[in-house]
Amino acid sequence: MKKVLITYNMFREGYTELIEKYDVTLPPEGVETFTYDEVYEMIPAYDALLSMFNFPVDKKLMDHAGKLKIVSNYAVGYDNIDIPYATQKGIQVTNTPDPVTEPTADQAMGLLLAVSRRISEIDRRVRIPGAVKWGLLENLGHSLFGKTIGIIGMGRIGRALARRALASGMKVVYHNRKRLSLEEEQKCNAIYLPLDELIRTADVVSLNAPHTNETFHLIGEPELKAMKSSAILINTARGPLVDERALIRALQEHWIWGAGLDVFEFGDVISPEFFEMDNVVINPHTGTQTYEVRNEMAAYAARNIMNFFEGTGAVACVNKI
Ligand code: GLV
Repeated sequence: MKKVLITYNMFREGYTELIEKYDVTLPPEGVETFTYDEVYEMIPAYDALLSMFNFPVDKKLMDHAGKLKIVSNYAVGYDNIDIPYATQKGIQVTNTPDPVTEPTADQAMGLLLAVSRRISEIDRRVRIPGAVKWGLLENLGHSLFGKTIGIIGMGRIGRALARRALASGMKVVYHNRKRLSLEEEQKCNAIYLPLDELIRTADVVSLNAPHTNETFHLIGEPELKAMKSSAILINTARGPLVDERALIRALQEHWIWGAGLDVFEFGDVISPEFFEMDNVVINPHTGTQTYEVRNEMAAYAARNIMNFFEGTGAVACVNKI
């Protein structure tokens, strides 16, 4: 029986079939996650690793994993995994694109509404007696209707966000490493723009691209200074796409109107300056954090492992081995 090591404790429902058919190890009841060192100790005995988006699957771990055939990442992003090295070692890496698309687009839209209409900030103040005024010219935000959203990264999540933005009466422009076909552009109702033009002209800039060497600090001081002073930046992709020090200055000095962030440059260490600012809405990487999606992602990651070993169906492969 093949052995599968799951790094993080999760609802069991999504793993039901995997647990029936394979020898599965999960962290014991009451333990959230195995540490890197624990996984390092155990990995030589395992054929498959089911890892979370923030669990580092590096050279050291893979060199210690003599039997490992597949790393099934519980995420669409896989910047936690040394992909070239996995490929070199003949280890299949897979991800979970389908279940992640719609909830991440919801999160981006939710952050955008919260920032543009100052929902979180006003909610915080209205709870304190006397801290909020009710006047018609108080608590003003910005309308989305008629504005332009610039989506950087027009993959599945970018397109799902485009649908939501169009439903809100926004215009959609996008930038992507590879321009979409005319037919796809028409389907998305989106106009391609070079990156610098998108940054200069969009009312909202949403990051929906993966974290790679090319996208590291895609938004830094020059880009933030080039954005409209009324613009909003949304990041539900990966933190390192934004130079966080530059963003803090941009928000403090009002180069832009606001930002909605689900991810941070330094992972779960949030720069404390954000806690002091009302023009930023911050969430601790909760883009896929719903009861439904947690199970869907688990089932998808489990299915990748079962289909890989059994050759019975699709496997969402990230690398070619
Ligand atoms: C979430 O961040 C994911 O990559 O699925």
